[in-house]
Amino acid sequence: MRMYDLIEKKKLGEELSTEEIYHIINGYTNGEIPDYQISALLMAIYFKGMNVRERYDLTMAMRDSGDILDLSSIDGVKIDKHSTGGVGDKVTLVLGPIIASIGVPVAKMSGRGLGHTGGTIDKLEAFPGFNASLSEEDFISQVNDIKIAVTGQSKNLAPADKKLYALRDVTATVDEISLITGSIMSKKLAAGTDAIVLDVTVGDGAFMKNKESALELAQSMVDIGKRADKKIAAVLTNMDEPLGFAIGNDLEVIEAINALNGNGPDDLMEVVYELGSQMIVFSGIETDKSKARKLMENAVASGKAFEKFCQFIERQGGDVAFARDINKFKPANYVIPVEAKEDGYIHAMKAEAFGLASMSLGGGRETFDDVIDMSVGIVLAKKVGDYIKKGEAICYVHANDKAKAEHAIEMINKATVISADKCDHMKLIIDIVE
Ligand code: URA
Repeated sequence: MRMYDLIEKKKLGEELSTEEIYHIINGYTNGEIPDYQISALLMAIYFKGMNVRERYDLTMAMRDSGDILDLSSIDGVKIDKHSTGGVGDKVTLVLGPIIASIGVPVAKMSGRGLGHTGGTIDKLEAFPGFNASLSEEDFISQVNDIKIAVTGQSKNLAPADKKLYALRDVTATVDEISLITGSIMSKKLAAGTDAIVLDVTVGDGAFMKNKESALELAQSMVDIGKRADKKIAAVLTNMDEPLGFAIGNDLEVIEAINALNGNGPDDLMEVVYELGSQMIVFSGIETDKSKARKLMENAVASGKAFEKFCQFIERQGGDVAFARDINKFKPANYVIPVEAKEDGYIHAMKAEAFGLASMSLGGGRETFDDVIDMSVGIVLAKKVGDYIKKGEAICYVHANDKAKAEHAIEMINKATVISADKCDHMKLIIDIVE
């Protein structure tokens, strides 16, 4: 099989066979096929796409390039949740403990933040001592014991994706549905759960900027999950404005703790309850989504969900005193209000720019080697649809460096649109693909 012929074939829009796709993925993973030929193929895929069968083979070949977790020794239906990324997205921190407290096993591999989006593992490391790299054995026994474990992605999980993603990143081929499907689903399938609930974000701060492309991606991932015999659903959620009020690591952890204690922002809780009720239905604990939602609400109201969170943090070595007393988190040196320049309704708080502003304060990474400042970020005082008076705070910038704060404030002002016309609050749940 010559790589040249396979590139030519895809360039002409022809279908690649299962054998050819495995040849490409295996050859690239073990270094036999060079970057320049894969780059050409990626661009051909970008323009000609892949059909569902090719996407499935691509996903499976990438999954098979490394370890596949065997979670069969965990009792019950194991469920994973994945978000395609957003700003202020602390859903896993709230959702995981709630459904674990109801008895749904949560065996979750999470990532670190990059660019304008944050990562769950970074946020969990806000608890001093938290261990985010569990061995497979400890991961499994923890889920059996307390129903929840969250660990960083093991090094040999879908290694083909690591190489391909890095290449896509520098060849302008990230935003192609078949390639995104292969990338996300190969990792989800290698993680070994029985069911997957996907949070496909849509809007300014998301990969998918409009509903049509998000729906196409959601359908593509659901198709592949079903072919692989997984229970799978995707929920399209709005990411035009940040989720909740807090952006930044410690600030988001504090918001998540408040949410678990019954004081969560409406939009955050809407996403948590929608994804969670789907997960509970997949688990078989409840068949009706509205009853599943009631179970979740009760778990929060009774304090059961928060106690599960504390148990989980403690089990992974984190200092749970921080969860029980949020005043233990060291605040940033400066908390500066960003004031509205006019009266009116807020029409936009562009999520990507808010995420980048938080990153510029030191709260995020440009490259994987950057060190994060946990205390900085932004706390919104208003959401899209709210009325604001001139001089009132749009949000508060939490900074450790005044020059960085000035720069972030400038970015926030550019990203906020205020107008006299009335404007509705944003609809959070855009669509569901089951
Ligand atoms: N997230 C991934 O893991 N891969 C993609 O291709 C896009 C988002």
